[in-house]
Amino acid sequence: MLYLGADHGGYELKESIKDYLDGKNIEYVDCGTDSPESVDYAPIAERTCKKIIESKDNMGILCCGTGIGVSIAANKVKGIRAACCSDYFSAKYTRLHNNANVLCLGGRVVGAGLAAELVDVFLNTEFEGGRHQRRIDQITDIENSQK
Ligand code: RB5
Repeated sequence: MLYLGADHGGYELKESIKDYLDGKNIEYVDCGTDSPESVDYAPIAERTCKKIIESKDNMGILCCGTGIGVSIAANKVKGIRAACCSDYFSAKYTRLHNNANVLCLGGRVVGAGLAAELVDVFLNTEFEGGRHQRRIDQITDIENSQK
């Protein structure tokens, strides 16, 4: 399943991404926020990511003003590899090389058209594995070494 989350800075972009996903018949769960009212991004990133880590097949898209706040918060959740992207190459390679499971986007950085392209390549690119798996394992080791 694909899980979406946003604060007020990313709310409009999240809504545009939902329109894009609806047009492609891609299922998702919207974890909020549900309006442009000001709301803190960390709890939204946390609750969205806690759904994502329930299955290794899950993925997520998080939006805030810059995409940075949600990415920092998301990466605190064990098992999350969140990448803040605003260009096509990064959105593609964070799947190929980092096996990212969350795409973070800035509602004040990217427009709806570019966001749809980034979502499309993120969702349709497979992890390459091989030497990159060793590097992901090293990241997991860092996570597991924390108290
Ligand atoms: C909210 O104004 C803004 O700080 C937030 O959306 C995000 O950009 C934080 O990184």
